[in-house]
Amino acid sequence: MAEASVIIAGVGLPAASEKWFEIDTIIALQTIILAAHSLGYGTCWIGSFDAEKVGGLLRLPPNLKVICLTPVGVPAVQPEAKARKELSEVFSLDEYGRPVT
Ligand SMILES: Cc1cc2nc3c(=O)[nH]c(=O)nc-3n(C[C@H](O)[C@H](O)[C@H](O)COP(=O)(O)O)c2cc1C
Repeated sequence: MAEASVIIAGVGLPAASEKWFEIDTIIALQTIILAAHSLGYGTCWIGSFDAEKVGGLLRLPPNLKVICLTPVGVPAVQPEAKARKELSEVFSLDEYGRPVT
């Protein structure tokens, strides 16, 4: 993070919807992350940070909240894709535990 030339902050407006402002912000950042990837950039979800400190650095007004961050940059390496769980381990069909084939 300290070396990233660009860090995008997902900032939400709680007053817009107490129920949805976090998920709306996360969806927006996820879309940005997918777009960045499609353009050849690397990102990394960052959920572990001090939201008040980051908000202070960004001089956010108190009605806004930093929800998530991602650095964006040109990847230094292109690692091999990791092994992933089988579809049947992470999805169920119609009810929990019924495998998707
Ligand atoms: C919601 C969320 C929060 C994350 N927060 C952090 C973080 O604070 N610091 C960090 O180094 N990586 C963070 N990551 C990145 C993960 O540790 C991991 O590197 C990334 O999701 C890639 O996962 P993969 O190994 O399954 O491809 C976060 C990922 C997610 C989905």
